[in-house]
Amino acid sequence: MNEESLYSLATKVLKTNDLGHSTKPAPRLYPHQWLWDSCFISIGLRHLDPQRAKSEIFSLLRGQWSNGMIPHEIFEEGAAYHAGSDRWRSDLVPGSPKDLHTTCMTQPPVIAEAVVRVGEFLTAKDRQAFYAQVLPALINYHEWLYRERDPQHTGLIALIHPWESGIEDTPYWSYLMHDVAPLRVKTLRIFGTEAVLDRWRPDLRHASREVRPSTTDFYTLYRLFTRVRAKQYAFDRVMRVRNIPVVQDVLFNSLLIRANHLLGRIAAEIGTTLPSALQDAMRKTPYAFETLYEDGHYWSRNYRTNELIMAPSAAGLLALYTGTISQDRADVLAKQVTSDEFWPAYGVASVPTSSPYFNPRRFWQGPVWINLNWLIADGLQRYGHEKIADDLRRQTLAMVGRGKGMYEYYSPLDGSPAGTHSFSWTAALVIDMIESTNST
Ligand code: GLC
Repeated sequence: MNEESLYSLATKVLKTNDLGHSTKPAPRLYPHQWLWDSCFISIGLRHLDPQRAKSEIFSLLRGQWSNGMIPHEIFEEGAAYHAGSDRWRSDLVPGSPKDLHTTCMTQPPVIAEAVVRVGEFLTAKDRQAFYAQVLPALINYHEWLYRERDPQHTGLIALIHPWESGIEDTPYWSYLMHDVAPLRVKTLRIFGTEAVLDRWRPDLRHASREVRPSTTDFYTLYRLFTRVRAKQYAFDRVMRVRNIPVVQDVLFNSLLIRANHLLGRIAAEIGTTLPSALQDAMRKTPYAFETLYEDGHYWSRNYRTNELIMAPSAAGLLALYTGTISQDRADVLAKQVTSDEFWPAYGVASVPTSSPYFNPRRFWQGPVWINLNWLIADGLQRYGHEKIADDLRRQTLAMVGRGKGMYEYYSPLDGSPAGTHSFSWTAALVIDMIESTNST
């Protein structure tokens, strides 16, 4: 597919998934609004219609709770979904919005990035007005993250459910999930017969079992969700339940570091400063982040045991995106990006091919994801690795073009598409990558 057809197909996908005020990630598998999806979507939409890109962000902020949390999903009235509003019951939790239903946990904080990227496409006057409108909500959100998720002032944010990471069955989460799987699933796994549970999996109506999370992970995600719900999604209460993993997630904290920086920029542009307590908390994070480094990689940490979870994945490469790690460490990571393990034929594999978890077409256990490539390329570029960044963007575009659709993810071995079709953030970031590769 040539670039022009790719661009117009991407535009069409965003139109098809447009819900008016927000964009759903995919027609059937994901019919609601998701936090980091909407951020990536707005980064594509800014090229098509900056005002609509703004409304994508405003519509996310409608879901903000009175304590500052921005939820990972806002439910669309009437859309059928297996983990829908009737399961979450946000209405029963104090502080949730009155007029809509949301999930009760968050997702990677990419909003500041989205705000700045959209801001670049507005006139100075419009941008400043936009910044002034969103800044208080963003400050509340970052304050909530530190208050609720870092009560011991470690500098790093802890997550209470894999869904919050955005990469729910990446090996370090899967590793923890194996231990806390429901008994029924554990027993079936021992006999290698977990597949009998597949017929009750609603997600398999929209994608084949080979490309979705394993049955163990799927049912454990649900069980963990009910355990967290029983504690009203509150960090201190969740901490009292031993069989709920709590993780200082490397991807989430990488994105937070960059978001903190951008938050400062947004405030500066409109001539204000961030609350000093928030600034103090923010300042600690890049230092604390360095404690995740060992043996040439950044890892996530098990918050309960204080141990690093040394199961490699592309999440560790997101340290490149922080902008705060040293040039030396960034160079080490840039080498890893281009290694055969992370870039066998197509980069970047979400899990290196040498990992026992590696599976080229299964969700977060191997495939190339366009949002991770976008973030990694952005980080590489800021560390002076423009050539790799450019190769990555161009190869990503060629790979998506060959697949003749905007798929959720792609095999790093042969570039074949997998997951759902018509996936919005693939479409949005394809548009952004076409624009950025044409301007270099
Ligand atoms: C899956 C992904 C998550 C994404 C959501 C909607 O759950 O793991 O990152 O936000 O789908 O696209």
